[in-house]
Amino acid sequence: MPREIITIQAGQCGNSIGSQFWQQLCQEHGINQDGNLEDFASEGGDRKDVFFYQSDDTRYIPRAVLIDLEPRVINGIQTGPYKNIYNPENFFVGKNGIGAGNNWGDGYQTGELVHEEIMEMIDREADGSDSLEGFMLLHSIAGGTGSGLGSFLLERMNDRFPKKIIQTYSVFPDTTAAGDNVVVHPYNSILAMRRLTQNADSVVVLDNGALSSIAADRLHVQEPSFQQTNQLVSTVMSASTTTLRYPGYMHNDLVSILASLIPTPRCHFLMTAYTPFTGDQVEQAKTVRKTTVLDVMRRLLQPKNRMVSTQPGKKSCYISILNVIQGEVDPTDVHKSLLRIRERRLASFIPWGPASIQVALTKRSPYVPMSHRVSGLMLANHTSISTLFKRIVRSYDFMRKRNAFIEAYKKTSPFSENLDEFDESRQVVTDLIAEYEAAEDANYLNPDEGAQATSAETDKRLG
Ligand code: GTP
Repeated sequence: MPREIITIQAGQCGNSIGSQFWQQLCQEHGINQDGNLEDFASEGGDRKDVFFYQSDDTRYIPRAVLIDLEPRVINGIQTGPYKNIYNPENFFVGKNGIGAGNNWGDGYQTGELVHEEIMEMIDREADGSDSLEGFMLLHSIAGGTGSGLGSFLLERMNDRFPKKIIQTYSVFPDTTAAGDNVVVHPYNSILAMRRLTQNADSVVVLDNGALSSIAADRLHVQEPSFQQTNQLVSTVMSASTTTLRYPGYMHNDLVSILASLIPTPRCHFLMTAYTPFTGDQVEQAKTVRKTTVLDVMRRLLQPKNRMVSTQPGKKSCYISILNVIQGEVDPTDVHKSLLRIRERRLASFIPWGPASIQVALTKRSPYVPMSHRVSGLMLANHTSISTLFKRIVRSYDFMRKRNAFIEAYKKTSPFSENLDEFDESRQVVTDLIAEYEAAEDANYLNPDEGAQATSAETDKRLG
């Protein structure tokens, strides 16, 4: 029985990464640009129905709802090569067409006005599935629509579908020296992170700083376009869903993947790494390297391959790791590689749980040619993700101290009476940082022993 997943893509970034994701899924499952199965796509063994349903004329249609408050990106999708695959009833474009002006408050306030129409689309999709497992929200947290309207939807969906899994692929702003193109990203990020903490079951963090440096260092593309970084993102998204789409004995639904990665509910922010990268648009990435299971698993552990830029401290460690290995793999090679990684101590784990790397071996699409024998994705829960959150809190504090750009927020409903929403959201994020820091301690599961870091301590360190 397939466990279906509905994808909701919000804002410019969410829709751009979403459209590349659907393009990639179509290619992997042998679905053409009109949604029909190609003649050559006769191998079977894949589960197209997790992400697609079939229309009366047997075309495959993505279980996707596309939302934006300004029409540009959605218009591009509606006129692009894959325009015919989507259900035309599942597009929502804001009536005034001017977007949320990079203002979380604006996006959230618009959510209050338009959510019935959007929830109706989501309900219709949910009713059309036999055994809905959950939702995937694709968005960025730095702007107005994906961040603010996305936050509003996360709250609503949590109320409406309390038993369904909500996973997000959240693009975080570039907090490195290069900076982000949205000046007020610290405000928007803090406000959205509150919802990601409280209303999502799992958040796959992709940070634009790390994506750009991977493109620069690994693929030798300086100043990569969004088109190029989104290719990295869609590769990661498709790899992290292969165990659902080409099911084996384990990890064949979302709940089993998340159960193995998230031992305590609040620490649900995941990092990814992928190797080797290839891409049609990225010429440099096409060079063939030797890929053995050990090469791949070793590279996945290298911080430079992670799609999140963190500064690991002395005590930073993995809470869990799931490696999804695709290609021609002999299971004994996996066993040997795991032994080697343990001997060389290439990964350090939390002291209060099993110190093991889980491995899922999956099939690769027979319809997409690959030049390398083995490829791998790592999904990991690592305590150093808190250093990314700290950077966001620091840049938030810097702006908030001077109340820079605050007037535009005061004009929106969440802030019409006071600015408490800001303070409460910051508190949720510092509590989250404290939780990850506490998880580095052996007594994490026994808070009575005094191991829990408090957010007050975290605050001191941030100050
Ligand atoms: P408004 O424009 O305010 O209506 O909100 P929005 O959600 O449409 O904004 P957007 O998605 O553009 O969010 C801005 C953030 O997303 C910035 O950090 C951008 O760098 C990032 N961003 C925008 N488009 C893309 C994209 O296609 N790929 C990636 N990786 N990041 C993007």
